[in-house]
Formats: sequence, C-alpha cells, structure tokens
Amino acid sequence: MARYELVKRSVALITLTNPPVNALSSAVRHAIAKSMEHALNDPKVKAVVICGENGRFCGGADIREFAGPLRGPPLVPLLDAIEAGEKPVVAAIEGVALGGGFELALVCHYRIVHFKARLGLPEVTLGILPAAGGTQRLPRLIGIPAALELITTGRHISAQEALKLGIVDQVTEQNACELAVEFALRAVAKPLSSRRVSMLTTPCPPDLDALLEAVTMQVKRKARGVMAPLACIQAVRAAATMPYSKGIKRESELMATLFNSGQARALQYCFFAQRTAGKWTLPSGAQWNNSKPREIRSAAIIGLGTMGRGIVVSLARVGISVIAVESEKKLLETGKQMVIGMLERDAKRRGVSASLNLLKFTLSLQDLKDVDLVIEAVFEDMALKKRVFQELSKVCRPATLLCTNTSGLDVDALAGVTDRPHLVVGMHFFSPAHVMKLLEVVCGPRSSSETIATAMSLGKRMGKVSVAVGNCPGFVGNRMLKPYLDQATFLLEEGATPEQIDKALEDFGFAMGVFRMSDLAGLDVGWRVRKESGLIGPDVDPKNPPRRRQGRRYCPIPDMVCEQGRFGQKTGRGWYMYDKPGGTNAKPDPLIQNLLEMYRSRYGIQPRNISDQEIIERCLFALANEGFRILEDGIAARPEDIDVIYLFGYGFPRHGGGPMFYASMVGLERVLERLEHYHQAHPDVPHLEPSPLLKKLVACGSPPVQKWREHIKTMHSHL
Ligand code: CAA
Repeated sequence: MARYELVKRSVALITLTNPPVNALSSAVRHAIAKSMEHALNDPKVKAVVICGENGRFCGGADIREFAGPLRGPPLVPLLDAIEAGEKPVVAAIEGVALGGGFELALVCHYRIVHFKARLGLPEVTLGILPAAGGTQRLPRLIGIPAALELITTGRHISAQEALKLGIVDQVTEQNACELAVEFALRAVAKPLSSRRVSMLTTPCPPDLDALLEAVTMQVKRKARGVMAPLACIQAVRAAATMPYSKGIKRESELMATLFNSGQARALQYCFFAQRTAGKWTLPSGAQWNNSKPREIRSAAIIGLGTMGRGIVVSLARVGISVIAVESEKKLLETGKQMVIGMLERDAKRRGVSASLNLLKFTLSLQDLKDVDLVIEAVFEDMALKKRVFQELSKVCRPATLLCTNTSGLDVDALAGVTDRPHLVVGMHFFSPAHVMKLLEVVCGPRSSSETIATAMSLGKRMGKVSVAVGNCPGFVGNRMLKPYLDQATFLLEEGATPEQIDKALEDFGFAMGVFRMSDLAGLDVGWRVRKESGLIGPDVDPKNPPRRRQGRRYCPIPDMVCEQGRFGQKTGRGWYMYDKPGGTNAKPDPLIQNLLEMYRSRYGIQPRNISDQEIIERCLFALANEGFRILEDGIAARPEDIDVIYLFGYGFPRHGGGPMFYASMVGLERVLERLEHYHQAHPDVPHLEPSPLLKKLVACGSPPVQKWREHIKTMHSHL
C-alpha cells in the first residue's frame, strides 16, 4: 500500500501503491503512518519524499470505504503529524492530487508538480467537504476568494494554475519524483516553520462578510437545494475567523452534518454509476472488456439540421474527418455556415485552432464510398430513414458502420433494409449534440459486439457519457419521459398551472421544469409523433370519448397549444410567452391560463388545489415506475444506467441520484404505496399501476439499488 525506500542515502521515498488511483484506503493510511514514523525516527533519513505509483500521486480518500465504519488511522491526525515533523517532506505530484490526496500534499512542506498534473478538492461533488484540513489550509495558503472558488466548485486546476495561485513550489516537465528528491536534499536544515501551512495567518479581505454573502447567493442560485457548498462556505469562514485548532474542529462538525446525508449518498452513487454505465454486456457474453472497437478515422453525417450540426462539431473537434451531406444546396450552405461558426466559437473557447480542414460538405451520397462510419440524422420519419439506409447500403463499402440518430424509432427495422444488419446501431444524441454529454447507444438484436464496442468507444472519444440500451420505442430516456409528461399534463387538467408544476420540479432540483423544458425542445416534435401514431387526426375513432385514446386517459391540451402555432421558444410562444421568437426568458401567459379554464369548464372538471408533494410524487414515481418496467423488459441492464441517462440527458438533479436511486432513497415500500393510491384514483392511467418488479423488490425487503440486478430475471434481455 506504500513502498518505503531509502534513496541518495538520506531521503526516505514513500510511494503510494494502491492502483488505479492510489486512493487513501485504511490500508494506505496505515502504511503512510508506519512509513512516516520510520522516516522520522531513522537518523539516516534527513528528508522525505511522498509520491504515487504509476504516475498518479493520489485520487483522495477511498470513496468505497465511505459506506462502512471508519477503519485504520484517521486522516487528520496523520496529516497533522506529517506537517509537524522536524524533517522536510516534499510531495512529488504526478497525474492527480485530488481531495485527500491534495490535502496530503498541503501538509508536505514543499510541492513539486509535473506540468500535466491536475489538482483539486472535488469533495463538494460527492456531497461532503475537504475535511482533512483542506478547508483550513487552502485559505491560509492562497487567500479566501481563490480558496472559496476551488472548494465550493470542486474544480480541478492545472499545474500552471496551481503555481500561479501559490499552491505549489515548482512545475516540471521532468520526472517529478527525481526532482523532488533533489529538492528535498536542498531543503535539509532549512527552517520549516514558515512551510507549515496550518500555522500561517489567513490573508483576510476587509469585506469578508460581503464576499461570503455574495458567494452564498451565487451557490444557492447555481446549486439549488444542495447542502455541501454551503457547508464549505461556513468552513472557509472558520479558516478566516478562527485559529487552526478551532477551525479544524468546525470543519469536522460541518462534515458530520453532511457525511451521512441522503445528498452525499446520492452524489457518491452518481460517481460510481457514471463509471459503471460504460461497462456494457450482452447475453452472448460479449462485453466492454472483451470486444474490440474499430478505429474510426472518417465519418459522414446525413442531415445538417440541429442534431446533425452538433454531431459534426462533436466529431471534428476530436480529430475525425467528417463529410456532411444535405439534400438541397440552400440547406447545405446554411448548415455549412452554422457548423463553421460553431466550430470556430468552440475552438476559441478552448484556446485551440478550429479543425475546419477536417470538414467536407456535399449533396451527393456517392461521396461516402470510403468512410468508416455514417450517422444518419434526418427527420424522425421511418420511411425517409429507410430510404436513406437503403441508399447507404448501396454506396458505402461493405465494412462501413451505419448508425442512426433516431430518438425512438425501431433500429432493427432500419437494420433490416440494409445489406449489413450486424453493422447497424443507434446513436441517440441529445440536443444540442455538441454540448449535451449523454449518448444512448441503441443495440439492435442484430448489432454485432464490434459495432456496439465501436459506437461506445466513439462516444467516449467525443467526451460523451455513453450508455448501451436495448431497442424499443423511445429506448430508455424517451420511453420514460412519456409517463412523466403525461402526469404533468393530467395535473394541468386537474387544476395546476405550468408555472406551479415547473416550480415544484425546479425546487426539487431539476435544471428545468417539464413545461420550460418542452418549450426549449419544441412542442411540434411531440405533436408530429402523436399525429403519426394515430392519437390525433383522422385516424381517431369518432366513438372515442374526447379525453381517452387507445383505451386510456389522454390529455389533448398539448395538441390545443400546438394548434395555436405555439411551438415553444422558437415561435416566442408555447406553455409560456417569450420576448421574441428564440427568446429564453419565460413568462406566464394569461392566454394559457384562459385556455386551461375554458378546457376545464368544457369538460366539467372542477379544478382543485394540488400540492407540490403530489406533483413530485406523480411525476417522479410514474417516471421510476417506467424505469422498473424497462429493467424487467431488459432494455436497460441496470438501474445505474437509467439514472445516468436521466442525470446527463434530462437534467435530473445529481443530488437526487437519478429516478431509480431516488425511488430507493424514498423507500420502495412508500413508492409502491403511493403508486397504488394514485392508480386507484386514476384507474385509466396504466403508467401509475405499480410494476411487477417494484412489487417483487418490496416483497424481497427493498434491497439497495446496487442489488436489484440479482432480482431482475428478464425473460429476454434486449442487450
Ligand atoms: N476512491 C475509490 N475509487 C476510486 C476513486 C476514489 N477516490 N477514484 C477513482 N476510483 C476508481 C473508479 O471508480 C474506477 O473504478 P473502476 O475501474 O472499478 O470503474 C477507477 O478508480 C478508475 O477511475 P476513473 O475511471 O475515473 O479513471 P480516470 O483516469 O478517468 O480518472 C480520477 C481518474 C481523475 C482520479 C477520477 O477517478 C476521479 O475524479 N476520482 C475521484 C477523485 C475524488 O473525488 N477524490 C476525493 C475523494 S473524497 C476525499 O478525498 C475526502 C477526504 O479526504 C476525507
């Protein structure tokens, strides 16, 4: 867990050896304590260097150990002892120094950093605070404003920024460890008192209260309802107003309020769920670690609408040459100008040059003969997509992968019209595709493991969080969205307003309420889908009662909004009104209020007061209920995958963990009881009927979310 060597006859070199990130597990802490004791007691040792194996200093506390009781030596006294020691200690930082790893570096008397290393205190992203003295030492070293920013955001910084801020003593392009040993030899016999950060006086700005107040307001605005950043601010205040001995106690008290909170559990769950999501597996035994992806050097995008443009940018900025195809000259020219603008802005923001030379624009599919992969991003129209796939089948070389960016259509039906169904896969991007992190990789029953591996790896290369899902209408994300949207519109019928529902969801922590989100996405898309699926229009059985379709409750209000030409932000009117078409400042619209009142009186609905609790329960429990069905159906391999999709694609608050984790946190028994209650009240809404898997999990004693997989016996996995 830590290797101890004597080098240059007088330097104790302590190397953390806990792959992959040298996390400070109990065993590592124990090994550091023993090694330090040895080094401080050995008269041959004049100085100490601490480094990490495999070019990584330390990724912080072992987060896996948070769930159990504390074992091994606690970190604070261990770190205090290193700092107080009479022999100089130098941290040789390569790779990362994060969280407890950064705090370990802060107690060393000197810090040498490799130029590619990253440092930071990301604890806040895990729902806790840097409680091994980080909130007390960092402000003493770099001042309150800079420390506050780093601690409340958890941002990682580069070696160069760390040097500028005064966190580190030297940045090197050489081996940091070798340099640290030389540095340590030179430090022997130099006085250490000014190098003990906890003994420094915190440079305190005269307007401390105003500064802390401003940061508090900013944090409350950006991270609504999240506890950890507020606790961080209080801990930093202690660093400014108390001696270290008292400040460290305050830090520990604040940590105690966070450590066992639901938010901390949710955020730590998200950390692991995000890493688990990339680990796909098929019933055949093929999986992420035994299937080799193909290398993709060139790609083509069909369609330069909003999605197509974003996908071109995502590919080109990671060095893939892209041929973009449109059907008409004017559309091609508009798309081209927009892509170039987007790439230039993106490159400027990242301080690199725009990779425009990788782009080619064409009207001819014939130009796609030699590309490695094609992503079709035309309108959501099955007949059109089939025509494109047939055409691609003819022009592309037999080995070219054919991907569709559909948001819910049958990937296998498209595979069926090609000469290579095993090379067809869905790549469902989220809009705007160059910004949104989520990618659903939709595995058709005939997609080969190599095809899936390639799509997943391409997603990773583009910086996406990629999740493999099965093929069914809407896949995972959009299939679950339906019951969620339905509940929101049923609540409108029953007496709520769009503003009230959005506020309840935003107070819960959603980035945007359901109606504001729909206005942003465009209301006409869903309207077209409803028309195509026969829910509105001439195919509707005239004998149907007006608020029922296909044997279940149906709310026609969204159709009525669209009939008025209100398609959301792009038309300046939707569920809300905006200053202008394309405006983003949503204001409640009295016309919508009138429409709702007229609608209710037309159907004899007596509006009632609806509580925020009912809004949250009906929307979120219906969402999770569909998630349980998706697990039963084998469309998602595990609850973590569903949660990651909702965190990265639908603005579910991270401190809620995602819909499935949230359900487990509320208690499956309670979710079941509430769903039964609402289903009884609304028997014509099948989505409210508790799923068999939910009932089964409750009958099994409501196991934690990580154990659900053991209870999911899918008849037929679609993955
Ligand atoms: N504890 C436990 N496991 C960790 C870990 C940690 N601190 N950091 C990473 N891992 C695990 C990951 O879960 C992953 O495991 P699997 O291979 O089983 O999936 C593996 O290490 C590799 O991690 P990544 O896939 O994330 O690797 P990467 O190279 O992309 O990123 C990293 C490396 C930047 C260090 C990233 O893992 C990371 O950000 N880790 C978390 C850092 C962090 O938040 N530290 C603070 C911990 S809290 C703390 O330190 C508080 C305290 O002092 C008391």
